[in-house]
Amino acid sequence: MTNSRYADKVVVITGGSSGIGKGCAEEFVRAGAKVVICCNNEEEGTSVAANLQAMARAQGAGCASFVYCDVRRTEDIQNLIDATVARHGQIDCLINNAGWHPPHKPIDDFSLEEFRELLNLNLVSVFTACKIALPHLRRTRGNIINMSSLVASIGQYHATTYAATKGALTAFTKALAIDEAPNSVRVNAISPGNIYTPLWQEAIDAAPDPEQCRADGEAAQVLGRMGCPEEVGRLCLFIAAEATFTTGVDHIISGGAELGYGLKSRTE
Ligand SMILES: NC(=O)c1ccc[n+]([C@@H]2O[C@H](COP(=O)([O-])OP(=O)(O)OC[C@H]3O[C@@H](n4cnc5c(N)ncnc54)[C@H](O)[C@@H]3O)[C@@H](O)[C@H]2O)c1
Repeated sequence: MTNSRYADKVVVITGGSSGIGKGCAEEFVRAGAKVVICCNNEEEGTSVAANLQAMARAQGAGCASFVYCDVRRTEDIQNLIDATVARHGQIDCLINNAGWHPPHKPIDDFSLEEFRELLNLNLVSVFTACKIALPHLRRTRGNIINMSSLVASIGQYHATTYAATKGALTAFTKALAIDEAPNSVRVNAISPGNIYTPLWQEAIDAAPDPEQCRADGEAAQVLGRMGCPEEVGRLCLFIAAEATFTTGVDHIISGGAELGYGLKSRTE
C-alpha cells in the first residue's frame, strides 16, 4: 500500500539488496522516500534497485537507485555518501544494515584474523558511515538506524565474534545518541531475533539437518514463526518517520524469542 509517511526524504541503506535491507528499502519506497541502496554485489544491487524503481514509478512517488560500496572500504563509503548528496542534495536517514554472521563454532576455532575482519565489517564500517554522513544528517536533523541483533544482549551458542560485534554496535548507538542529541540527530538500534532471510538460509544450508534447523528457527519464538524482512522495514520506517522523541533505544523485534525459561542445559 502506498503512503506518504516519508515523502521526498532521502534514505541510504547499506546492504539494501537482500533480506532485511531489501525489506527496509521496499517500505521506504512505499512511503515515498528517495532510497539509495548499496552492497558489494553489482549485479544484485542493480537488479534490486531496478525493481524498486519500477515500484516507485507505478505508485508515482519515491525513487530508488544503487551505488556499489564495500562497507569495509572507507573510500567506498565516502563515495556512497557523496553520490547520494550529488543525486538528491541531502540525507535524512542512514540505515547501517550490511553485516554477516559467520558459521557457528567455539572460540578455539576462530582465528584472531577472522575476528578482526568481522569487526571491520559489522562495526568499524558503521562508525565510518556515521562519521561521513553526520555533517549531512545534522543539516536535515535526520536520524541513524543501526542493525544490531538480539544476541547482542542474550548471547548465542558458538557465536562469540558475532555477538561481540553486535554488542559493541548497540553500545556505540547509545553513545552516539548522546553526542548527537544537541544536533537534533536521533540514533537508534534495531535488534532483530530470527528473521527469515538469505543469511538465515545460509545457516540452514550449513546445518547437518537443514529441515530440523529451519523448524528449530521457527519454534524459537513464542509467536511460533520467524519474522520477515518487511516487518523489520516497518519498524525502521516508524522510527524514522514518527518516533521523533526516541533516541538511543535498542528496539528488539524478535517475536518474543527471549521471553520465559527454556531447556538450556541437561544433567543427564
Ligand atoms: N536475519 C536475521 O535473523 C538477523 C538477525 C539479527 C540481525 N541481523 C542483521 O541484519 C543485517 C542484515 O542481515 P540479513 O539477514 O538481511 O542478511 P543478508 O545476507 O540477506 O543481507 C546482507 C546484505 O549485506 C550486504 N553486504 C554483505 N557484506 C557487505 C559488504 N562488505 N559491503 C556492502 N554490503 C555488504 C549483502 O550484499 C546484502 O545486501 C545484518 O547486519 C545481520 O547481522 C539479521
